[in-house]
Amino acid sequence: MSTFGIVGGTGLDQLQGLHSQQSHLPDTPFGKPSRPIQEGSWHGRTVYFLQRHGAPLAIPPHKINYRANMWAMKHLGVTDLVAINAVGGISAEATTGALVIPNQLIDYTWGREHTIDDGSSGELQHIDFTEPYDAELRKALLAVATAQDIPHIASATHAVTQGPRLETAAEIHRLEKDGCDIVGMTGMPEAALARELKMAYAAICMVVNPAAGRSDEPISLDAMRDTLKQKSLVVAQLLNGLVRAATSGGR
Ligand code: HPA
Repeated sequence: MSTFGIVGGTGLDQLQGLHSQQSHLPDTPFGKPSRPIQEGSWHGRTVYFLQRHGAPLAIPPHKINYRANMWAMKHLGVTDLVAINAVGGISAEATTGALVIPNQLIDYTWGREHTIDDGSSGELQHIDFTEPYDAELRKALLAVATAQDIPHIASATHAVTQGPRLETAAEIHRLEKDGCDIVGMTGMPEAALARELKMAYAAICMVVNPAAGRSDEPISLDAMRDTLKQKSLVVAQLLNGLVRAATSGGR
């Protein structure tokens, strides 16, 4: 039976309706996770929730301890992990407020601790990452979004940049030429670490601003936060539906 984990991003400090019963802050070989992991229950099933930016002080995307976060989730027994990412919209349909379930990514990050493979196993670990998001978990998310009439974009390429600054207009132009539809800063190395640790991983990306150069208005952090707040309820609804569907389907 699947055990769900959820990694929330900026603005998603709590999941509506998930009442925390206890929290866990395990020591991992890589240090502590960003924040205590909340254990709650939905439809009689344990769900673990972690805010990757920590609290009360926000950890910037390039300083997040992704390895500790993913290791902790794995060792709590998580089999299926859904990541929530705030992103900028590049392609025309990725307008502010859109929910996107990406099927591909391009990693533009650098200098992050990006693997748990330290070579000590003595075996080369070349994980297959052709499809960076788990097909079954994506299918389950898409089925819930469709059944609940939640508007969404069902496939997209997610560019993951280093940050913490936003991009230049020319960088966004390049990302578009590379085939990217949305751009965020926290999707990697999280997705690859989940694959190394054999957890199914999928993402729900919330478009919170037009990417650099895609609007006449300057990019405003306040406007991003407003969109995040408005959209967090529908994200919680989608996640709740995912757990309910797994429970009724015996998955
Ligand atoms: N670029 C990169 N990361 C982001 C953006 C953006 O425009 N918006 C939210 N996260």
